[in-house]
Amino acid sequence: MSKNILVIGSINKDLVINTPRFPKEGETILGNNFSTSNGGKGANQACAIGKLGGKVGMLGAIGNDNFGKDLSNALSSNNVNIDNLLIKDNISTGIAVITVTEDGANHIIVAQGANALITKDDIKEDVISSFDIIVMQLEIPLEIAKYAAATAKKLGKTVVLNPSPAVKLDREFLSCVDILIPNETEIDIIGGIDYVLECGVKNIILTLGADGCDFITKKERKHFNAYKVNVVDTTAAGDSFLGGVVRMIADDKTMEEAIEFATKVSNITVTRKGAIDSIPTYNEVIESY
Ligand code: RIB
Repeated sequence: MSKNILVIGSINKDLVINTPRFPKEGETILGNNFSTSNGGKGANQACAIGKLGGKVGMLGAIGNDNFGKDLSNALSSNNVNIDNLLIKDNISTGIAVITVTEDGANHIIVAQGANALITKDDIKEDVISSFDIIVMQLEIPLEIAKYAAATAKKLGKTVVLNPSPAVKLDREFLSCVDILIPNETEIDIIGGIDYVLECGVKNIILTLGADGCDFITKKERKHFNAYKVNVVDTTAAGDSFLGGVVRMIADDKTMEEAIEFATKVSNITVTRKGAIDSIPTYNEVIESY
């Protein structure tokens, strides 16, 4: 039976401008179209798992506003259990301002809003106990992510961390992580591959954008290629990749099988615009490859 997954993390409304290029410092340029989409690394990852047919719940916070309502609907309509969704008063739902260039590259700035108000009291042991795999990112307060990881580890859960936005992570936090999924910039900020392995992380999946990813343990480093696709928007590429990995691990697939599946998922995501809406369903992945 497929394992139960809980995503603890961020929920954002994405405000997106497509632009011919990124502006230089101090420069104003004219962009193309503006759109909004439902996102946030936590919500994207939860919806990816839900769209791929996994059993998943979301523990995160929205504001008591229309953006929050949109995101709550987006989560439930993508097969994500929202029993542990928190509504915080007198604060906006998280916002991400995103610029996307014509070759699909992006810049993202997040105003955390309600995501910043998650407290230790919101991380309940009885909730974590009822899930098998706990997935986190770092768009919620660092001390809360660290507390959630320690609680999950104490309860014997598998902990998956996407360390984004990256900060230097201490040994105490990393020792609670079973699978770390950073990109090249993030692994450097955290402290490097050797440091992470030495702190007790058993599996690193280092994402390399169009070059695929490397699966790294103390014993081996194995490369996986991405497919050549027409890239439209890289937003949520990493989130959908993580969703694919976790979805497969929940079914007891090997790390290699999980990475191969996740590569297909993220390679479809980058051919579409937006965050949650760009992530494929399980059938779309199977039918495309
Ligand atoms: O990873 C992409 C996500 O980062 C966006 O959806 C945005 O909300 C930010 O959290």
